[in-house]
Amino acid sequence: MEFTIKAGSPEKLKNGCVVVGVHAGGDLTAAARALDKASNGAIATVLARGDLDDKAGSTLMLHDLPGLATPRVLLVSLGQADELTDKLYRDAVAAAARALAGSVAGDAAFCLADAELPHRDLAWRLGQAAQILKDSTYRCDELKSKKDESKKGISKLVFVARGKDADALDAAIRRGEAVADGMALAKTLGNLPGNVCTPGYLATTARKLAKDHKIKVEVLEQDDMEKLGMGALLSVARGSHEPPKFIVLNYKGGKAKDKPVVLVGKGITFDTGGISLKPGEAMDEMKYDMCGAASVLGTFKAIAQMALPINVVGLIPTTENMPGGAAIKPGDIVTSMSGQTIEILNTDAEGRLILCDALTYAERFDPVAVVDVATLTGACIIALGNLTSGLLANDDELAAELLASGQAAGDKAWQLPLWDEYQDMLKSNFADIPNIGSKGAGTITAACFLARFTKAYKWAHLDIAGTAWKSGADKGATGRPVPLLTQFLIGRAGH
Ligand code: BES
Ligand code: MN
Ligand code: ZN
Repeated sequence: MEFTIKAGSPEKLKNGCVVVGVHAGGDLTAAARALDKASNGAIATVLARGDLDDKAGSTLMLHDLPGLATPRVLLVSLGQADELTDKLYRDAVAAAARALAGSVAGDAAFCLADAELPHRDLAWRLGQAAQILKDSTYRCDELKSKKDESKKGISKLVFVARGKDADALDAAIRRGEAVADGMALAKTLGNLPGNVCTPGYLATTARKLAKDHKIKVEVLEQDDMEKLGMGALLSVARGSHEPPKFIVLNYKGGKAKDKPVVLVGKGITFDTGGISLKPGEAMDEMKYDMCGAASVLGTFKAIAQMALPINVVGLIPTTENMPGGAAIKPGDIVTSMSGQTIEILNTDAEGRLILCDALTYAERFDPVAVVDVATLTGACIIALGNLTSGLLANDDELAAELLASGQAAGDKAWQLPLWDEYQDMLKSNFADIPNIGSKGAGTITAACFLARFTKAYKWAHLDIAGTAWKSGADKGATGRPVPLLTQFLIGRAGH
């Protein structure tokens, strides 16, 4: 879907479809009012009959209204005028996207950004709309032998909006698009099966991304990791025939002297649990255990496409977690890159083992902040469900910044405590630290484990176990938290 923007009179538009908002009770937005007037009250007549539901996100396609140049008008309900929220606006845009996807209009003019939304400026409304519209065109048919060749859907869309700073509005649209492109990359990597999306595949993808954009990439191999003493990461890889990789991405959009933000993504390309084998039910979904890594790659794509003025380093420790003759066993003790010894009481708590060495490696970049992203604990799904990512941090300002970024991006997180008291739940009789905590607070004890490796810098941890993908009939990766991370970096870049 290609986007442009122009200021114009909605009633004169000749596009295949014109999308306008109406509020509950037949209360028309400015664009809808203009169409209604030009068509001699045709819209008000239809609304008076009650064909369009008052609920935000309801849609109704009208054809051949008199007095209009366009053959189609898509009415989108925005609900009660004084009750419109970020969520309802996003729902309405998503509903419009679905209706357009099922139409043969070919191109469309989009007038929903004039919705009355307190606290959100026009740039925000346009950026969100661009992101949602573009994201709605995502398909995962890479491994289907027959591709969808339907002629339905929109190839060109013009945002009809008037603002003082046209460049700022255009930039907002390009940013929305870039976020959707980053999400698409993250979704595709997540959805690819474990026999395709291996650690080597992630490394190849990172190299390709670096080639297409202003990004440097380095891939550390097993012997490099051995030299660095990454004993925790390598212990997870022991059960697998796929060689582990450690991917280092470097995006230098900022000034040379600016310290980088470091993003770390868990890249377990399949998590069987290892010797502490998982039950068989829905185990296929453990191909999604690299969604943290995918979101880091997706975020790099988004910020590089935006040419964001900031320095960012990406670290992706990646391996499979398999049982096997050489696999680590419960009770084994390994030495992490930090020197701390770890008693592996459960081989299924492998994410923290690969992350801890990456977090130690992060120190060499003298980061302003480190954010790791991981499908780390089933407990996070119990705590927050599938709507909200878990956030834990050793710095409250960084936490607040990430929470606000999630709010603005429609990709929310919620903070859980990382108080010192919880550290007492991690005790080993034989090593410095066990890789699991005592019963309860699984998301917090996992973060407490990571906190032992992040004392040198400001750090936050996003547990995306519940938000990175959907199960059931709609099974698929969500592309989260690319919107949150990108918004955070936009903020950091001073925009
Ligand atoms: N990748 C899983 C976490 C997970 C499970 C994410 C289900 C999404 C859905 C992680 O490696 C894991 O297995 N964690 C264990 C930790 C436990 C052994 C302390 C868990 O959450 O059960
Ligand atoms: Mn696991
Ligand atoms: Zn895992």
